[in-house]
Amino acid sequence: MSKKYLITSALPYANGALHLGHLAGAYLPADIYVRYLRLLGKDVVWVCGSDEHGAAITLRAKKEGISPQEIIDKYHFLNKDTFEKLGISFDYYHRTSAQLHHETAQEFFLKLHEKGGQFEERTSEQYYDEEFNQFLADRYIIGTCPKCGYEEAYGDQCENCGSDLSPTELINPRSTLSGKTPILRQTTHWYFKLDQHEAWLREWIENGKMDGNEHHNPKEWKNHVTGQCLSWLDGGLNARAITRDLDWGIPVPVEGGEGKVLYVWFDAPIGYISSTRQWAKENGKDWEAYWKGDDTQLIHFIGKDNIVFHCIIFPAMLKAYGDYVLPKNVPANQFLNFEGQKFSKSRGWGIEQHEYLESFKDFPNKEDALRYALIRNMPENRDADFKWDEFVDFHDKELADNLGNFVNRVIVLTNKYYEGVVPETTQPLAEGLAEAISIAEKITSEIEHFSFRPAAQALMELSSWGNTYLQEVSPWKLFKAEPDSPVIKECMFNCLQIVGLLSLLSAPFIPFTAPKLRKLLNLDELQNGDLQKALDAIKSGQALVSSGHKIGAPELLFAKVIDRKDDSRLQIINAQKEKLEAVLAGEKKAEREPIKPTIEFDDFTKIDLRTGTITAAEKVPKAKKLLKLTVDLGNEERTVVSGIAEFYKPEDLPGQTVVLVANLAPRKLRGVESQGMILMAENEEGKLTFVGTKEGWGNGFVVR
Ligand code: 2FM
Ligand code: ZN
Repeated sequence: MSKKYLITSALPYANGALHLGHLAGAYLPADIYVRYLRLLGKDVVWVCGSDEHGAAITLRAKKEGISPQEIIDKYHFLNKDTFEKLGISFDYYHRTSAQLHHETAQEFFLKLHEKGGQFEERTSEQYYDEEFNQFLADRYIIGTCPKCGYEEAYGDQCENCGSDLSPTELINPRSTLSGKTPILRQTTHWYFKLDQHEAWLREWIENGKMDGNEHHNPKEWKNHVTGQCLSWLDGGLNARAITRDLDWGIPVPVEGGEGKVLYVWFDAPIGYISSTRQWAKENGKDWEAYWKGDDTQLIHFIGKDNIVFHCIIFPAMLKAYGDYVLPKNVPANQFLNFEGQKFSKSRGWGIEQHEYLESFKDFPNKEDALRYALIRNMPENRDADFKWDEFVDFHDKELADNLGNFVNRVIVLTNKYYEGVVPETTQPLAEGLAEAISIAEKITSEIEHFSFRPAAQALMELSSWGNTYLQEVSPWKLFKAEPDSPVIKECMFNCLQIVGLLSLLSAPFIPFTAPKLRKLLNLDELQNGDLQKALDAIKSGQALVSSGHKIGAPELLFAKVIDRKDDSRLQIINAQKEKLEAVLAGEKKAEREPIKPTIEFDDFTKIDLRTGTITAAEKVPKAKKLLKLTVDLGNEERTVVSGIAEFYKPEDLPGQTVVLVANLAPRKLRGVESQGMILMAENEEGKLTFVGTKEGWGNGFVVR
């Protein structure tokens, strides 16, 4: 039986658009891996789909006054379409609202239920909204976080401090439906007895052993993944409720389950199974061969917030069911930040995938430009930060100056020297290219170890090696004197082989560019298995681009952002930076001084405010900020010293209406007695402006 690869990426919730952090977390790495496996000719299926249940979706629907179905339809298709446009090449993108998924999840539940020993029913007190006559899912309860005091924490999690919570921990809980304080009422749910899986899970995670046999090499798992699992296990496992009182989701298929649905985190991972089933159905395959075969490599690509579900809970579910394979690896990524801060939709901080495609529609090769920047800065072992300046650097310095420039030089020179026909060479292939071949092996080995960031760096090393080699030989210096030189021929031949390698090895990373490289070389489009064939060919001394083969005409692969003659791409980048500046400026403006403690009306009436008009103004000697003003109060004139010299010129002030605090005790400032105070409003930059009446409205009137 041949080895099978079953690859999954976290099913994204269909209640919002995905941002670049999601892409870098669970989809782009899987895409690189899967494209690589396909190029090796492996038997691989990669499944994903929309996660369409859960209280977050119903809550959003309630807030927007639409049905959950409208929300999931909108985002399912948006996300699916956007993934496709970015070259994320799932074999199947399913959805958990599909009938087949409901059946698969119910069957899974029933099997565990009937098996006995895996579930228990428990009755407990949960929050209930008396006005809406329903139990409240954790997300429907808001209150003060007991850990950090944040007043808008959810019943399951505080988004301010990140603590996991349970609804009864919240201080001052309130229902998001009615806004009222919920009451506690009894309800019965099914619990999965996770605690009884603790021993084998520990042995499996710590030592990679299953039933005494080697299952995987635990050293190949990322440290942060194993670390998170072990600290969870150290905390002890508890039975977990896998049903909820909700009307949106998969009905609980047993007696007593009326009005209840499966918990979203119970059905979502089963979504991987139903997605595979749907794919198999449509492609005449046997899904069980992948999920239950002896020789399957199951790999889950996820973000770090999903580690426990994929390394502990779902494996326990699969084991409890029996027959299913367990993941060989869960190469979870950490988080990507954006320009130094967390992605935040509500703040407008970050960029969503579809927004990127829209804003960069005139940016040449935008898909690969983004993919590459995300790969080079992938949060593989620690959080990373996406910056537009780095995006530009990766694009200009690596894709354009290194890869693009090397390929271009080779294609141009081959066309120039040999009319595009690959020259003959006598040198055995492996000798001239030994180093390039070892870099190629580094690329494949990094990919196999889920180290995509170093893999992309190694890809650049390959073209960099080519550039250096070309530079060292400098055929252009020799060509004039000896156009037929075997040294040039060998150099060009070798360089063409490197472009050939690049056309294969770049494909998992920048799949929109790789076909262009094939076209430049006039080679066939890539097929599954081509990389394996090429690696075998090179090992046996065969060329990837043979002597006598006619290559294509040169074509620019990447147009640099920093280009003195054309700033159109820089403008696209600058527009993104300006958006962020606007977010920050808007937030600064919104930071107002808190309102002072309440006063009584009598306190207010103690202040005598009068309308007035400035009749004269002059600078106060030796005081940069002060102006001496004469204010007409109708039946008297006052002299007022005011700190507005930075904002107003004395000659502009006569005629300005003001409001004056007329009963303020007089005070001497720089030797001038000030007989009152003029009201000014101060903005966030500290600028002052007059508070007053219309010109000519009248002086000396009381302001109440
Ligand atoms: O965290 C999330 O976005 C979840 N929707 C991931 C689910 S992964 C899997 F289990 F389906
Ligand atoms: Zn908190």
